[in-house]
Amino acid sequence: MSKLILVANWKNHPSSLEEAKGLLKEMGKKKELYKKLALFIAPPLPYMESVSERAASFSKLAAQDITLVPKGNYTGLVSLDILKSFGARLAILGHSERRAMGETSEEVSQKIKAVLRAGIVPLVCVGENERDKDGDHFEFLRGEIKQSLAGVSKQSTSSLIIAYEPVWVIGKSAKDALLPGDLAQSVIFIKKVLSDIFGRNTADKISIVYGGSVEPTNAGALVKETGVAGFLVGHASLRAKWLEEIANSLISK
Ligand code: 13P
Repeated sequence: MSKLILVANWKNHPSSLEEAKGLLKEMGKKKELYKKLALFIAPPLPYMESVSERAASFSKLAAQDITLVPKGNYTGLVSLDILKSFGARLAILGHSERRAMGETSEEVSQKIKAVLRAGIVPLVCVGENERDKDGDHFEFLRGEIKQSLAGVSKQSTSSLIIAYEPVWVIGKSAKDALLPGDLAQSVIFIKKVLSDIFGRNTADKISIVYGGSVEPTNAGALVKETGVAGFLVGHASLRAKWLEEIANSLISK
């Protein structure tokens, strides 16, 4: 992806459609700014239509997860076909909040292959649960990346994005976020693992974004010289002004 990436993961927010519309209206006032980035909005499913109606000129729609069910009778589930028909262009896969509900790396790898077949960009989340002063978290990260990408062909990686989201910094505030130096180290490590799997040339082309307590006050430092190609933003994406400031930090990288 040539533009820097900004993914707004709304998770299970805002709490009403009216609030979601209000947020989109505020975001729309900065459409010229967002057009300079590859902005994706991943709303709760019932808000998808509103997002595509109101934000199509400056963003693309993303899914927070997918299911592997085909068309058919699966009460309570939504198939990839339906997501695609709504215009989903990217799918967040293997988010730690899904993994905490029991999703395995094997399921993540199946989902990656399914979205690639559907022509949707897979944004694959990986990240250690805690940081270990002896560096054991790097081994965890290696295993999670290898298992999640198992069976993904080198040829299909052109649209693959890795989101590095250390679980221990998600949902906190800028002061608790990962330090830029530690982020840079993790990015180098992830590139090395990708290089072991796909070879150096292919690995160099895979974008790595960062997520975990990105806020206006730390966004600038987290994007500068850390090797990331953008952010996956949770709570700060629900505040139009904060998202705008984060977008500005990416632009002025
Ligand atoms: P926060 O930005 O709220 O820490 O959430 C990060 C995240 O999980 C995005 O997917």
